[in-house]
Amino acid sequence: SPLQEMLAAPSSFKKSHVLSVTQFTRADLHLLFQIAQEMRLGVQREGVLDILRGKVLCTLFYEPSTRTSASFDAAMQRLGGRTIPIQTSTSSVQKGETLQDTLRTLACYSDAIVLRHPDEKCVDVAKKYCPVPVINGGNGSKEHPTQAFLDLFTIREELGTMQGLTITFVGDLLYGRPVHSLVYLLRHYQVKVQLVSPKALRLPPAVRQQLVDAGQLLCESEALTPEILGRTDVLYCTRVQKERFPSLAEFEAVKDSYRIDYSTLKYAKPTTVVMHPLPRNEEVAEEVDFDQRAAYFRQMCYGLYCRMALLALVMS
Ligand code: NCD
Repeated sequence: SPLQEMLAAPSSFKKSHVLSVTQFTRADLHLLFQIAQEMRLGVQREGVLDILRGKVLCTLFYEPSTRTSASFDAAMQRLGGRTIPIQTSTSSVQKGETLQDTLRTLACYSDAIVLRHPDEKCVDVAKKYCPVPVINGGNGSKEHPTQAFLDLFTIREELGTMQGLTITFVGDLLYGRPVHSLVYLLRHYQVKVQLVSPKALRLPPAVRQQLVDAGQLLCESEALTPEILGRTDVLYCTRVQKERFPSLAEFEAVKDSYRIDYSTLKYAKPTTVVMHPLPRNEEVAEEVDFDQRAAYFRQMCYGLYCRMALLALVMS
C-alpha cells in the first residue's frame, strides 16, 4: 500500500531521536505530512490501524500536559500499540532518581519514549544515555518539535500552502518553545514573519537571527496594530509562560499585554487563521471561538494525525 511504501522510505526519523526540529529536512517534513494525511483517512475509515501492533511507548512528563501526552497516547493506541504513562509525581523521580537512570529503565520496557522536561539540557542526557528513540515533548523554553510539526501541518491544511504567507507571532516569544521550533522550521519555506511582543519577551537572539539571515523578518512591534493585522495570514498567539519567569512580579507586568477578540479580528483578512498551541488564558477571548478563522481547536485535532505519523516513522 502507499502508506507502507511511505513508511519504508528513507528519512531522518527512522529509529532516531526526535530532539530538535533542526534535524529535519524539507523532504522529511513532507513525508511526515503525507503520512499524516493517510493517518487521518485511516482513522476516519477504520478507527484503529495495525501499524505498531506489539510496540510499546512510554510517556514521561516532568511538566504538566494535556494535549501532548493525551495525543501521543491516543496516537499509539490508534496505531495498534500500547502506552505506559509515567507519573513523575508517583515514580522514583520522587526518590531522587536521575533522568539518565529513569530513561535507561524505561528503555528496558519500551520501544520509544516521549519526554517533557523543564531543563533544556534533557535532550543531551537522552542522546547520551537512552538506547531507544526519545521524542522531545518540550525541553524547557527551548523547543517543542512535535508542536511545530503539527503547526505546519495545520497551516497547510487551512491555507493550502506555506509559500507567500505572512505569519505573525504574538505574545511570549521569549519563553514560548512552540514558537522557537516553528521559527526554525520556517527556513524551509518562503514566508514573511512579524514579531509582536513586549520588550521583555522578545524572541531569543539566536532564533531571531535565523529570520534575519533568511530575509524573513518583516517587522517587530510592541503593539498589534491594524497594519500588522491586515498583512497577516497566520496569527499565532501564545500563552505568557508564567512558570518560566524569574519572579511573579515580572510575569504580572506583561501577562495581559495582548487580547485577541472580535474587535482585533475586524482588522484581519477574512482568510486569516488564528492559531494557538493551547492552553490559553486571557490572550484569546472566548468570542473568537465562534469565528471560522479560529483554527486552534482544529489544530489540536491535526496533532493526533501528525503524532501518529511521527510514531509510525520512528518506530516501524
Ligand atoms: C505548549 C507547551 O507546553 O509548550 N503546550 C502544548 O504542548 N500545546 C504551550 C504552552 O504551554 O503554553
